[in-house]
Amino acid sequence: MPIALIVLAAGQGTRMNSDLPKVLHPLAGVPLVAHAMAAGAALEPEQVIVVAGHGAGAVTKAVAAINPEARIAIQSEQKGTAHAVAQAAPLLEGFMGDALVLYGDTPFIRPETLDAMLAARRDHAVVVLGFEAATPGRYGRLITAGGLLERIVEAKDATDAELAVTLCNSGVICADSETLLNLISDVGTQNASGEYYLTDIIAIARARGLSATVVTCPEAETLGINTRAELAAAEALFQARARALAQEDGVTLVNPDSIILAQDTAIGRDAVVQGPVVFGPGVTVESGATIRPFSHLEGCHVSQGAVVGPFARLRPGAELAEDVHIGNFVEIKNTIVDQGAKINHLSYIGDAHIGEASNIGAGTITCNYDGVFKHHTDIGARVFIGSNTMLVAPVRIGDEAMTGSGSVITADVPEGALAVARARQAVKPGLARRFFEKLRAAKAAQKG
Ligand code: UD1
Ligand code: CA
Repeated sequence: MPIALIVLAAGQGTRMNSDLPKVLHPLAGVPLVAHAMAAGAALEPEQVIVVAGHGAGAVTKAVAAINPEARIAIQSEQKGTAHAVAQAAPLLEGFMGDALVLYGDTPFIRPETLDAMLAARRDHAVVVLGFEAATPGRYGRLITAGGLLERIVEAKDATDAELAVTLCNSGVICADSETLLNLISDVGTQNASGEYYLTDIIAIARARGLSATVVTCPEAETLGINTRAELAAAEALFQARARALAQEDGVTLVNPDSIILAQDTAIGRDAVVQGPVVFGPGVTVESGATIRPFSHLEGCHVSQGAVVGPFARLRPGAELAEDVHIGNFVEIKNTIVDQGAKINHLSYIGDAHIGEASNIGAGTITCNYDGVFKHHTDIGARVFIGSNTMLVAPVRIGDEAMTGSGSVITADVPEGALAVARARQAVKPGLARRFFEKLRAAKAAQKG
């Protein structure tokens, strides 16, 4: 059955007290909304629709970066969750299949839970995800009878008897797309908030003779983010789980509490990470690699046997082949480093290719930017770049070539050649001593 994902993300998130829309606040290195989208993506949906409102421009841009195929429905006024889903209707025209509604501010829903909801859909027209709430508070209450869901009542509209119910609504809902939109068209605003409640579709469905049921999950999965304190708590929860999962996968984490992982960090078995280390999004570390302390990695790949850090920075597009060594105070960006190459001290290497077994001396810099354009530096295999070489791109260094330390290389160096581009050394015997004597005499004269 094809699936359309509808992610509600139009709310302002007033309690974040922020100019940034709530769903764009980062959690585990990616916007909050990316988490619900990732859980939904595991179901391989045919359609992904994000309903945006507050900060729609920024949300649209962020969503495109997360999933270029996702589409945006605009809800310019937030009139309630049913109204939000209704904004997706034009985009769902002609779609035949199940629609699954998720909240953009609820990051911990697991794909397995969504699968269970889809399975329950075989026997019921509408499936709602519920949970046993420790403190039901403001949550909508699920009113069931004989294993079926009768209706959902919002806390504001509930009687004391209904408020005593602890089975609560997570907000995640699944129904045939056409049926869902049809049910929503009957939702009104006769309630304490004067909003179009998505939750009202249950009573409407039941009145039409359609069946509805509840699938439950642990409360932790339905945790929604409303404040910065909740965001910080969610981050801590994510990190604790991600570290535990990495350890179960056979990764050695030294000083684990100081290792920050991103939503998609992938680390292979028997890799060693010595904290503190920060992983931004898009990092893969192969089995047997070592990441030493105080390193920062994002959008990069580290192959087997490679050693990174301490104090290394790998930026997007850094691709390290097997047994590469990246040492202290080295920054690598958009560069492929072939097997066994070493860049061990104080370097900036950007927009480059380093051939296998090449050694890049301390302080080497690829001068890749002319103020307007970025240029490429190509270094062959088994090259020796002398310390403090400036490689003014675009430039090519052939295989097994060498540069003298302190060189400013502005022209290509052919294979096997030695290039030295610096002033020749002059030695003046006795000159230093005579110079110092003159200075000291001047100082003595000053003192009088
Ligand atoms: C909603 C449910 C409640 C449930 C709770 C779980 C309804 C009427 N109530 O209440 O039963 O227990 O979630 O957290 O559905 N949104 C829009 N456009 C709108 C309104 C909301 O996009 O017009 C989005 C919000 O950005 C948010 C989500 O929908 O991501 C939920 O909205 P919110 O106002 O937080 O609903 P609750 O009152 O918490
Ligand atoms: Ca909420």
